[in-house]
Amino acid sequence: MSAIIKKLDDMRRLARLGGGQTRINSQHAKGKLTARERIELLFDEGSFEEWDMFVEHRCTDFGMAEQKVPGDGVVTGYGLINGRPMFVFSQDFTVFGGSLSESHAKKILKIMEKAVQVGAPVIGLNDSGGARIQEGVNSLAGYADVFLQNVLASGVVPQISMIMGPCAGGAVYSPAITDFIFMVKDTSYMFVTGPDVVKTVTHESVTHEQLGGAMTHASKSGVSDGVFENDVDALLQLRRLMDFLPLNNKQKPPVVPCADPPDRDDYSLDTLVPENPNKPYDMKELITKIVDEGDFFEVGEHFAKNIICGFARMEGSTIGIVANQPMVLAGCLDIDSSRKAARFVRFCDCFNIPILTFVDVPGFLPGTAQEYGGIIKHGAKLLFAYAEATVPKITLITRKAYGGAYDVMSSKHVRADVNFAWPTAEIAVMGAKGAVEIIFRQDIGDKAKIAARTKEYEENFANPFKAANLGFVDDVILPHTTRARICRSLNMLKTKDIKNPWKKHGNIPL
Ligand code: HXC
Repeated sequence: MSAIIKKLDDMRRLARLGGGQTRINSQHAKGKLTARERIELLFDEGSFEEWDMFVEHRCTDFGMAEQKVPGDGVVTGYGLINGRPMFVFSQDFTVFGGSLSESHAKKILKIMEKAVQVGAPVIGLNDSGGARIQEGVNSLAGYADVFLQNVLASGVVPQISMIMGPCAGGAVYSPAITDFIFMVKDTSYMFVTGPDVVKTVTHESVTHEQLGGAMTHASKSGVSDGVFENDVDALLQLRRLMDFLPLNNKQKPPVVPCADPPDRDDYSLDTLVPENPNKPYDMKELITKIVDEGDFFEVGEHFAKNIICGFARMEGSTIGIVANQPMVLAGCLDIDSSRKAARFVRFCDCFNIPILTFVDVPGFLPGTAQEYGGIIKHGAKLLFAYAEATVPKITLITRKAYGGAYDVMSSKHVRADVNFAWPTAEIAVMGAKGAVEIIFRQDIGDKAKIAARTKEYEENFANPFKAANLGFVDDVILPHTTRARICRSLNMLKTKDIKNPWKKHGNIPL
């Protein structure tokens, strides 16, 4: 018996060494942790249960029969994050560069299928040279099987991708289907075709970092929802994110103990909006002042900064926040911000997370770049997402809510449940200047007349009372009471139950 136990011990020790100490050293020298070290940091101490440690590839071509490493380049299993179960696959770059073989894919599929069956999130720690070149089409088939399972799991359990090394070629499409992609600065990159192919085809010279580094995807393409300084930072922040999310689409968002009083007034909010309507202010100040303990997990921080998305809690329960940011492009909606917010709204709706929307939007960004880029379709994504969402929706207009953007930004008309406005709100088809120049075009040369008309327009529309008068705004509230009013509304909405008409699925303008 003891001999068998020793054999098992030896086999485990060998498997844990992955591609061997030299390759582990090389991984560390690049500033990266190994697949197993990452899992240790991600999960509560001692909670990880590993599966398929002894799985090996079955390839016999190119001398592969003699090169087998137990585990085959990916560590899979489940563990706890603050006591809640999550599944993980962590690619081991020390074994064939973390490349995906048929067996490697099967290991990932096994945990994904179980995660859907038990209703627990899937976290992918990606660090891979892509398809196992020696396996050819078997490897491509493995990828396709993973893509399919990603699609089937979408909207059932949260799927999160952390890119912690290379992720290239078709391999990018598994993370792309998941709910959020995060990347580690300097050590990770994602692209469909690498710098060499780019050079040959388009004659552009770019580095890995410029083409697909963490900041490139976080700020230019919007593919990544966030960047972290290093592996440790990334994994600790991932733990923080997972605490906000329900485990599956049947659960309510988690509730944590909360020491922040729900009726806490904040008088500094009474002066947050400047007297001059064209002066910006920081919407993040409002967010951090009203949520529990100022704790806000922002997603997509570096992309389309004119809209802010992220998770926070009110009275201990998770909410999703979408807010125009007047500091960037005056908070207007454009292609990127519409896409970013639409996807976030849909995530919240998939996973029963109430949506709190802060509005200060002067309209859609004008220009040929926007029109040629398809702002019509992209703006419609956000409209569609808000309109179809059945989770509790609370909206607060702090200042401008102009034109179509007023409708889109979780207005009463797209089924928001509670719509508040601050006294500083201006709800109109457009700003006073633009409106007067159109409807009183004949008076354009007469400065006094135009000034009088502008004043008249402002008095009529540059306030929330017209909308309140029509019931489109449920109440005009004092800014310092915002937290209390939202907490009460969220409590009232806890039992909200509405259903959309039966359909196979809607057809969001993609
Ligand atoms: C098999 C691979 C591999 C791969 C790396 N390795 N990628 N083995 N299949 N795809 C092995 C290397 O042979 C090496 O083995 C070890 O992993 C580490 O690789 P290095 O090149 O030494 O590391 P580094 O210098 O850090 O470079 C990493 C890399 C490079 C940039 C990822 O390895 C690389 O370019 N690999 C090929 C990438 C690629 O073309 N993949 C196919 C993409 S297409 P030893 O034994 O020396 O340690 C694709 C299609 C998916 O993925 C389609 C889905 C539909």
